[in-house]
Amino acid sequence: MDWKSLTFSYTKTNTMLCTYFRNGAWTPVESRTDDTIALSAFAGALHYSIECFEGLKAFRGKDGKVRLFRPEENAMRLRRSAEFLGIEAPSVEMFVEMCKQVVKENLDFLPPYESRASLYLRPTLIGFNPQLGVASSSETMFMVLCSPVGAYTGGNLEPINCVIARNYDRAAPNGTGSHKVGGNYACSLRSLNIAHSQGYKAVLYLDPSTKKMIDEFNSSNFFAIKGNSYITPLSDTILPSITNKSLEDAASYLGMTVERRQIPVEELSTFEEVGECGTAVVITPVSHLDDKPTLESEEVTRYTYVEEGCGPKSQRLYDFITNIQYGEIEDPFGWTVEVEL
Ligand SMILES: Cc1ncc(COP(=O)(O)O)c(C=O)c1O
Repeated sequence: MDWKSLTFSYTKTNTMLCTYFRNGAWTPVESRTDDTIALSAFAGALHYSIECFEGLKAFRGKDGKVRLFRPEENAMRLRRSAEFLGIEAPSVEMFVEMCKQVVKENLDFLPPYESRASLYLRPTLIGFNPQLGVASSSETMFMVLCSPVGAYTGGNLEPINCVIARNYDRAAPNGTGSHKVGGNYACSLRSLNIAHSQGYKAVLYLDPSTKKMIDEFNSSNFFAIKGNSYITPLSDTILPSITNKSLEDAASYLGMTVERRQIPVEELSTFEEVGECGTAVVITPVSHLDDKPTLESEEVTRYTYVEEGCGPKSQRLYDFITNIQYGEIEDPFGWTVEVEL
């Protein structure tokens, strides 16, 4: 494989794992070479979006070891999403074991250390039984899928342009915004498609209640740097990002002040660096952010952060976190979980 040219797209691997929850228990985990699944056309996942998922990565380290980054956090978040949907989810132990197993079965697709690419894991939980009425599914199917990936947009640390979607929301107040359910992504598609057609790489949403505060991007959290502070939104309509949580700890560790608070839109003009953070995007710096009365409008207020490359504090955080992931430095937090080969 040409590891260097990998982007964030699907490559078929050796196997996927799956198990079903029925009659009060999980069936033995099956490893399948076929990446298609059979399910009733009346499965709740297809009609009522009874679906939640996770995204995490396995890294091949400088020392040859294979590490997962904070898989227990993903397991707990999946359980939280499933609880919201009212469906059965795997235990943390079962989740982590299946993640390890899928990595071991797909080592041929785990990019080498030098490539700075990784194996992305996509644990997915769906409402499986046939049903007609709206109700939480009684049977679920849990799968762990994987695909080798490179940078999400362009190259690593290549800055992207973004736009605020004032007249669209990804989540409702008191809705599903803080859960990793498929429906949230369906809701973001309209605004994302418009933004893409205008040449933007990502959309930034405001809090859906007041439209005055920064929430998050379509597939990542928002952070900003001002002086020695790492600032990130406090909101109950955003996904609690594991990367963001790690960056907050990393920032403190590196002597920065961490502010998790509401961020008014007007504050955008005061930031020195702005970026996206998440498993897929890692840290992706924002070059400029356009604010328009509506996404369709020609009128633009532009906030510019970098012309090229990445701001120094974002770069330092990026280096710190990726060095832990690739086993280049000591992991002072015990974040990584080794996959014994
Ligand atoms: C909407 C949204 N916000 C934030 C994130 C980042 O979360 P994490 O760092 O746990 O990957 C993601 C990606 O998972 C996401 O889809």
